[in-house]
Amino acid sequence: MTVTQTKPWRLLRRHAVKTGNLHLGDLFDEDPDRFDNYTLRDEQLLLDFSKQRITRQTTELLCSLARDSDLSAWIEKLFSGDAINTSENRAALHTALRLPPGNELIHKGKNIVEDIQENLARMEEIVNRIHAGQWRGYSGLAVDTIVNIGVGGSDLGPFMACKALSDARVPEANRLNIYFVSSMDGSQIADRLDSFNPATTLFILSSKSFTTIDTLSNANTAMQWLRQASGVSEEVLHRRHFIGISASGEKMIEWGIPPNSRLFFWDWIGGRYSMWSAIGLPIALEIGMQGFRQMLAGAHTMDQHFRSTPFEQNLPVMLAMVGIWNVNFLNIRAHAILPYDGRLSHLPAYLEQLEMESNGKSVDRDGNDVDYNTCPILWGEIGPNAQHAFYQLLHQGTESVMCDFVVTARRYHHSGNPELQQQHTLTLANCLAQSRILALGDRVIDDDVTAPFFKRYRGNQPSTTILLDELTPYGFGQLIALYEHKVFVQSVIWGINPFDQWGVELGKDMATELLEPLLQQQAHRQFDSSTNGLLAAILEKQSDKS
Ligand code: F6P
Repeated sequence: MTVTQTKPWRLLRRHAVKTGNLHLGDLFDEDPDRFDNYTLRDEQLLLDFSKQRITRQTTELLCSLARDSDLSAWIEKLFSGDAINTSENRAALHTALRLPPGNELIHKGKNIVEDIQENLARMEEIVNRIHAGQWRGYSGLAVDTIVNIGVGGSDLGPFMACKALSDARVPEANRLNIYFVSSMDGSQIADRLDSFNPATTLFILSSKSFTTIDTLSNANTAMQWLRQASGVSEEVLHRRHFIGISASGEKMIEWGIPPNSRLFFWDWIGGRYSMWSAIGLPIALEIGMQGFRQMLAGAHTMDQHFRSTPFEQNLPVMLAMVGIWNVNFLNIRAHAILPYDGRLSHLPAYLEQLEMESNGKSVDRDGNDVDYNTCPILWGEIGPNAQHAFYQLLHQGTESVMCDFVVTARRYHHSGNPELQQQHTLTLANCLAQSRILALGDRVIDDDVTAPFFKRYRGNQPSTTILLDELTPYGFGQLIALYEHKVFVQSVIWGINPFDQWGVELGKDMATELLEPLLQQQAHRQFDSSTNGLLAAILEKQSDKS
């Protein structure tokens, strides 16, 4: 039996037919306390669901669907380290990375909390050494330029966090410049290397597998640049200019990373769930280990909330279930992430991977094709900038889009800079204005003179507002763990494994096959006619000596 045949699903379908025509404006008219009735809070985070097209009955039915899907049992499996990543026979224990020291979690006969704490301590040594100016390049100068080379989960999390938490930068980080390089085509690294001093540049090679070609090719380019500039041996360069972070010690050894420069994590941490591990080294360099530990503590608070709070008051559960309502019952297939805080500019890209690589699947855990929609298309942009780009479609287009407005209540309040405080106030006003109009449309206009058709706003676009008290490491940890658990809950309802990503593997193999004719400047085998034609056009252009 698939989830669509269960009683709660059928009831939700019937409920959607009955309530489908309700406008958010009606829902607000009917219930003057709608905000109070549909808002949840956990410590520094408030979630306002009142602008979702839901009623009390919707939430009750959604919670009964969650219960019917055995969500509580799945949550326990997640936290206790069951091999729920079945296609790779692995646990998904990112929550263990956030457990405070002194806890115990036995996995495969070992207390992994000890391993995790040991690694954090090694990370701390490295952070302290770099902060103290004691990590020196080949000429003896202290390194001041840090370049994280990684892609996907080995890039997006730390990249997002370093920007998000820039206000929490520790003074020791002021002399450091931290950069991120991910693009396979070399354009990022080429641009950067021109302006870096090789003697003071340290590369962090971040890769769970340490086989990702994007990362290794950028690493080789970096090595070649150092070799040419320094004239010293590779052994010295490996020791002074590279740190490796990986789940594969062997691969790091093969690449030449010396023992003291290796940091580890484990195969039971998914790449896109790994910013809490040593992969977070750039974050710790930016905000210090104390800040990093606060981020872990915030995520741990969310873990505890998720594990122990009844579904009706559970932030990740309700965020997920409202998403299920939108996707599967209101047939909304697009999801916009709209941060109203420039520091969260990389949140949409991070969530694109987290959500779409996790739940962008069409077979269930048993290999059956699903007969329902799963992960919607997710994209986003800093809200105020998006207002000048794609909000036209949100307000007057034909697509229903669900939106997450992510905003901070306080910013710049200690800055002593009234202009900046005002800019934050302006941003808040825009956030509230946009979510209000998206929900209510032109019902917000008081006078009842009918506007011409091009000035009409339909409204009824559902949104959740996620309000952070402030963007602290702690609150940020809560926010990201919220989304991680949301993704997990949805995977349980859809019956899919969110911890593998086989859909990206075939492309890597095919790229290897296509590399051959491109390197040899000759196509030895036939592909499809489009690929053949494009190869021929490229080879012809490349052989043109003009
Ligand atoms: O190709 C997809 C992927 O495996 C992601 O899941 C992962 O985050 C990324 O590549 C990078 O992988 P790695 O950390 O092993 O280099």
